[in-house]
Amino acid sequence: MEVIILPSEKDCAKLGGQLIFDLVKENPACVLGLATGSTPVSLYKELIRLHKENDLSFSNVTSFNLDEYIGLSGDHPCSYRYFMQEQLFDSVDINLKSTHVPNGLANNIEAECDSYEQSILEVGGIDLQILGIGSDGHIGFNEPCSSLSSRTRMKTLTGETIKDNARFFESENEVPRHCITMGVGTILDTKSVLLFAFGEGKSDVISKAIEGPISSMVPASALQLHPNVKVILDEPAASKLVNIDYYKEVYANRPSS
Ligand code: F6R
Repeated sequence: MEVIILPSEKDCAKLGGQLIFDLVKENPACVLGLATGSTPVSLYKELIRLHKENDLSFSNVTSFNLDEYIGLSGDHPCSYRYFMQEQLFDSVDINLKSTHVPNGLANNIEAECDSYEQSILEVGGIDLQILGIGSDGHIGFNEPCSSLSSRTRMKTLTGETIKDNARFFESENEVPRHCITMGVGTILDTKSVLLFAFGEGKSDVISKAIEGPISSMVPASALQLHPNVKVILDEPAASKLVNIDYYKEVYANRPSS
């Protein structure tokens, strides 16, 4: 795990943008795993800037989103399909047919989950997965106690996640209770991961995920088993890490700098 601590969210988004820029330049037909929520918004803004100002083209890129609420259609303003259209897809040249978000209205949820997994396999897997982290340690919507080898499936949101996400809805009651999410195992199969976290509110869970034991109670801690993870944090999110000075030293003295 490479822990990168930068002064601000903007710096983190810039670095993330550069890493994705490099990947897409090297492999224009790469497969990106995408996240929603507040965390990736600054990164998506940076990708849009790179598209407009630096010729970054997504025309051959394929994408898979982590999750979607069950019961919301893609044109519902709180659905994750809608979020992706607004925050990224509508502003870059990605082919919408190559973008995948689980169908929250599928009649047969199990079949939808199996076919999502199959579609990821058919394109050769996810080259780079973007992640945020929930205050309860979830990645995707893999809530505490999720199997660390789980695949795409239906999950029930915790009360904490419902509360956290109520800010996107008119009231807490409107937050769907169920979702489809890639599993922890699906995420561990990706070739590389960029996990972002910003703000003091994420500092406790970040220290558990990075420096605590691997446990299904903190699903993000499973990333300690992934061979290629960069955790990109602003100072407040990193503030409770015991080894903060070491991580800074490693980054400052990275071989490529
Ligand atoms: C979103 C997702 C979630 C979020 C997490 C953090 O697709 O899978 O794991 O990354 O809930 O959300 P924010 O960024 O809103 O704090």
